[in-house]
Amino acid sequence: MQSLIDKLHKEKTLQKDELITLLTSITEEDKKYLFSKARAVADEFFGNRIYVRGLIEFTNYCKNDCYYCGIRKSNLNADRYRLNKEEILSCCEQGYGLGFRTFVLQGGEDLWYSHEEMLDIVSTIRNAYPDCAITLSLGEKTYEEYLELYKAGANRYLLRHETANPDHYSKLHPPRLSAENRKKCLYDLKEIGYQVGTGFMVGSPYQTTENLVEDLLFIKSFEPQMIGIGPFISHKDTPFATFPSGQLDLTLVLIAILRLMNPNALIPATTALGTIDPNGREKGILAGANVVMPNLSPVGVRKKYSLYDNKICTGEEAAECRMCLQNRMKKIGYELVVDRGDFCPIK
Ligand code: 5AD
Ligand code: FES
Repeated sequence: MQSLIDKLHKEKTLQKDELITLLTSITEEDKKYLFSKARAVADEFFGNRIYVRGLIEFTNYCKNDCYYCGIRKSNLNADRYRLNKEEILSCCEQGYGLGFRTFVLQGGEDLWYSHEEMLDIVSTIRNAYPDCAITLSLGEKTYEEYLELYKAGANRYLLRHETANPDHYSKLHPPRLSAENRKKCLYDLKEIGYQVGTGFMVGSPYQTTENLVEDLLFIKSFEPQMIGIGPFISHKDTPFATFPSGQLDLTLVLIAILRLMNPNALIPATTALGTIDPNGREKGILAGANVVMPNLSPVGVRKKYSLYDNKICTGEEAAECRMCLQNRMKKIGYELVVDRGDFCPIK
């Protein structure tokens, strides 16, 4: 198996059947080898510097009904909230003071904010913080809308493809959503000039090893600047309430493989990873991730942005959360940096 890992390291990809072998037959010893290779590649590009993104979860209203997600519109138990422009700006102000130079505006697909309003929010942040990156995570929109948001000052966009396989996609989403349109959105974003992030959940219901390989190869061919993966975690008020959560080790293996396939990509150790294991984010970094995304949302709304059960960091203030992560990273030899943390193409 180690020769397969060496091949992956050298060629930055593998054949489908080789990836299946890697995912299904990897031993504990091979995992150690894989993680250390992946970490060495991340160290090559980023050293011991970990980029931070301030996550502002500004609305948990959503018009969609994804079967896995706790803020799906059919969940009548969700306690809905929206932050207005002033509240969003005050999160940015607090975040800037704490050293964040990237703000991620994430929300459900909430049409209460008109397109003009979103443009106004983005351009206001752009003018107030010219040295910061603005990342949007607002779901599927038209080419025109993406373009105008980009022109208003947004730099990056996160839109996970969730699963590259259309049949699997249709098992996770109601018929209105399709893998095809999701991918179209991703290509639109890229064409416009955004740094684009995509990714998937590990261990989502009905996922097969073949599906995971399709995800890896889709990502390889799409060449995103950012890759976010985390375990699926069930939410009690969704159709997937009784499905088991995704596994820590498989998630770490996939992070490491993604690092070897996409050496300079920005890969976060996600909150979901920190939720299924108390040291999940540290383990993610040691398997090749190089980004963390502490929460900047007001404490009063955090519990309400509940995509899955038992989410961590819902009681802590932004400063506490950043400090906590700083200490966690320091313990494993890494430091959080005050930096936009843009994607750098390989020269
Ligand atoms: N478990 C883990 N991740 C989830 N997401 C949504 N619901 C869940 C869940 N139950 C992820 C999706 C989405 C991102 C914002 O959060 O991949 O793209
Ligand atoms: Fe939020 Fe530890 S990172 S409390």
